[in-house]
Amino acid sequence: MLASIATFALEGVDSREVTVEVDVRRGLPAFTVVGLPDASVREARERVRSALLNSGLDFPLQRITANLAPASVRKAGPSFDLALAVAVLVAGGQVPAEAVAGTAVCGELSLSGALRPVRGMLASALAARACGFARVIVPAPNAGEAALAEGLEVLAVPHMEALVELLHGRWTPVPVAAAPGAPGASSPGPDLSEVRGQRDAKRALEIAAAGGHNLLMVGPPGAGKTMLARRMPGILPPPDFDEALDITRVHSVAGLGDGELARERPFRSPHHTISPQGLVGGGTRPRPGEVTLAHRGVLFLDELGEFSRPALEALRQPLEEGRVDIVRGQRSVSFPARAALVAACNPCPCGATAAGCRCGELERARYQRRLSGPLLDRIDLVCQVMPPPAQDLVDSCPGTGEDSGSVRARVVAARQIQAVRLGGSAATCNGEMDTATARRHVHVGKGSRRRLIRSLEAGALSGRGHARVLRLARTIADLGGRDRVTAADLDEALGYRLVPPELAIA
Ligand SMILES: Nc1ncnc2c1ncn2[C@@H]1O[C@H](COP(=O)(O)OP(=O)(O)OP(=O)(O)O)[C@@H](O)[C@H]1O
Ligand SMILES: [Mg+2]
Repeated sequence: MLASIATFALEGVDSREVTVEVDVRRGLPAFTVVGLPDASVREARERVRSALLNSGLDFPLQRITANLAPASVRKAGPSFDLALAVAVLVAGGQVPAEAVAGTAVCGELSLSGALRPVRGMLASALAARACGFARVIVPAPNAGEAALAEGLEVLAVPHMEALVELLHGRWTPVPVAAAPGAPGASSPGPDLSEVRGQRDAKRALEIAAAGGHNLLMVGPPGAGKTMLARRMPGILPPPDFDEALDITRVHSVAGLGDGELARERPFRSPHHTISPQGLVGGGTRPRPGEVTLAHRGVLFLDELGEFSRPALEALRQPLEEGRVDIVRGQRSVSFPARAALVAACNPCPCGATAAGCRCGELERARYQRRLSGPLLDRIDLVCQVMPPPAQDLVDSCPGTGEDSGSVRARVVAARQIQAVRLGGSAATCNGEMDTATARRHVHVGKGSRRRLIRSLEAGALSGRGHARVLRLARTIADLGGRDRVTAADLDEALGYRLVPPELAIA
């Protein structure tokens, strides 16, 4: 007899519908799986056999052929176990075929018959809804995540025995409700008021948060760069529902997260020994890298000068396009990567300012070569972080500076202005505007235009830099609640483009 069951295969952070067809007929006992399965999918045969037998069900001693269609999609991982098991039950006549009509099935099996959670359940549930399925059967630990796809009936099943009872209509699982919580009700992180002094750096941080711009802080050791960067998530606007879904989906595909809707934007700070693949993703079964895990949040590269050059070069495409395209063999996978880059580095290996530097020319040149020109060109704000005056450090009592909440309120207001202006376009904030959108929305006066031309002619600004300055100036004006970009806004934006002499790289 023939049976077919719908399930889903992960591709990047999306899922594709896969039909599991099982044919059971007389012949020498055998269980074959075809349709581009990898080794982990072929292992499913052993799990399915043991799970059925240990759940008191029959495993047909006949010739079983399973086909995973479409055969052109590579199948990997254990998430096909459950669909294979249900298809064997239907084909063997142990479960009526009508019971699984309009139902998708997704889950891993243990040898005992218990259902184990799988990665990427949110992506699969969203795909199931988009493909028109009314119900999805999932392992109980995955149920909350699947229920985030509103409008889909989620049936949480703990074990194969319970599943058979369900399909015979003798048991009804407890209805699963999504518990998205209130986005933004996050635990308070470190507060900006703990950073003494650093008015300019705090201003740069606020602008970066308000417009989703990339920021580089340069300064001697102990000046407070890492401290400032770690306070960035506290001033970013909380994610809205769609952004929270995006974050949850990415983290679920990577096997991170607790299955609940993300309430905070991610803050990823990989160590500088990370490989290019770890940073942007890849592998034979492509996995998301740090820049994707930071999607809709912050990617913090501390000690930027210590990262390998290939790793930093690999970041160029994601920073520009907001996504990573990975091509492996004949397949191409795309991961989202809309993260704001925050980086920190010392001006040279010894970390001292220009005056007190003890490094040799060569040492200095090697260190600075790592920060390639093209990467620096993608950074909108470069800001010097000098040690705060001793008076500030010693005198002011903690908590006297402006707190993260007040800065966040200004950032949220500026983002709302941007959302209204950019409504209908692909960008959600100024930092995401492409050149054409930036030209349409940012108008500068005659004097400012002359200043821009001078900067371009002097070589202080590249073509890309020009577009980035316009976007930055727009954010500065939005923070000030100004409709038009003034000369002062543009001057401030240009000031952040100027690379400090310590970093003037060939
Ligand atoms: N402006 C400041 N206000 C309060 N504390 C500060 C400030 N700057 C530095 N500190 C203190 O110094 C510690 C080190 O600062 P931080 O790690 O941010 O320095 P850094 O600039 O990242 O140095 P490095 O270049 O060595 O990484 C902080 O944990 C904090 O205790
Ligand atoms: Mg540091």
